[in-house]
Amino acid sequence: MSGIKVVTIGGGSSYTPELVEGFIKRYNELPIKELWLVDIPEGKEKLETVGALAKRMVKKAGVPMEVKLSYDRKEALPGADFVTTQIRVGLLEARAKDEKIPLNYDVIGQETNGPGGLFKGLRTIPVILDICKDIETLCPNAWLINFSNPAGMVTEAVLRYSNITKTVGLCNVPIGMRMSVAEMLEVEPDRVHIDFAGLNHMVFGLRVYLDGEEVTGQVLDKLTSGESMTMKNIVDLGWEPEFIQALQILPCPYHRYYYQTDKMLAQEKKEANEAGSRAEVVQQLEKELFELYSDPELAIKPPQLEERGGAYYSDAACSLIDSIYNNRGDIQPVNTRNNGAIAGIPAESAVEVNCVITKDGPKPIHVGELPVPVQGLVQQIKSFERTAAEAAVTGDYNTALLALAINPLVPSDTVAKQILDEMLEAHKAYLPQFFQTVV
Ligand code: G6P
Repeated sequence: MSGIKVVTIGGGSSYTPELVEGFIKRYNELPIKELWLVDIPEGKEKLETVGALAKRMVKKAGVPMEVKLSYDRKEALPGADFVTTQIRVGLLEARAKDEKIPLNYDVIGQETNGPGGLFKGLRTIPVILDICKDIETLCPNAWLINFSNPAGMVTEAVLRYSNITKTVGLCNVPIGMRMSVAEMLEVEPDRVHIDFAGLNHMVFGLRVYLDGEEVTGQVLDKLTSGESMTMKNIVDLGWEPEFIQALQILPCPYHRYYYQTDKMLAQEKKEANEAGSRAEVVQQLEKELFELYSDPELAIKPPQLEERGGAYYSDAACSLIDSIYNNRGDIQPVNTRNNGAIAGIPAESAVEVNCVITKDGPKPIHVGELPVPVQGLVQQIKSFERTAAEAAVTGDYNTALLALAINPLVPSDTVAKQILDEMLEAHKAYLPQFFQTVV
């Protein structure tokens, strides 16, 4: 490749300046010639604002990267080397419904877990699969790097239901955990290594190393003595020290929804009554961000962007693209085909695991069996993701009900059906596969 072409679908996202900053920083090793930011026509205002900022950032940095805007991905895709997807079907209004409706049934309302995760998947997967078809015909050699949530379920769907094989799902949770551990140990993050294994938003740190020496016990001690490990979108209510000591591995911030369900539910209800759901908080944050982005004097990523839960996304994304492009052979945690790395998860399913990243993509590092106390939950969530992905593709009501009823956050088949019915109606406009009439 001489001069890389990257196409970012969902380019009008408020996260885009992070990505642009990451590409600028790495320009010498990762010479991106063209960066196409693609969005839907309804997102014109946002794309134009973000696009103009991206152009100012590139100009200020003095790198010869051309930023192009488009409302037609078919125009942008030909010749792409990397396609990144960061879409939110139904925008933040749909996320607010995902977060609020389940609360009426005393069920966690969260964008990637429980009913919210199911519905985000049902809305997103068909769109991503359409993008896959376009990649297949317009840029068959491109890598698809997906950040769209629920990233694990989306990767599962791409692996099972598309012809794309060069695909990786990406999340900032592992990098966020590494940053938190480095902060706890008061060291630079590059001295910390964590053996990650599990699923997206269901990943564990099996062992933690500092300069190659295992320090898992020390980190667990810190976690139980009040040091925090979370992300901006998840409140840290602390852990029972004895639980973490017995678990012996590092949970990710999202495990709180499963191991502290009652406390997290009470917290969500409280927040919904006070500041609003996370989607509503983010709507306000986005408004402020876009006001900043509109300033013609601004030519850097504003620090306010760090208030979003997706901090460090660009580091994860740019490191991944850099390692594929430069065949680095370094280790990164990504969502990829299991291929036997984690025992008890189907070979063809997506897992989030440390991989060696080469020009041929991620090669998962063998894990073997997960510890017995967490094995079941991980397998259950994988069953949920598979069933949900099937429902997204088929639009079959019973399959969607099955997915919801087997989710550990949903208390019964009846509650599953009630939530499903209300949410199908609420999201009708974005779920054509469930409402097609046979003629
Ligand atoms: C975390 C997750 C991301 C998610 C983000 C939401 O970082 O790993 O998958 O998109 O939080 O952040 P927000 O600021 O939108 O609540």
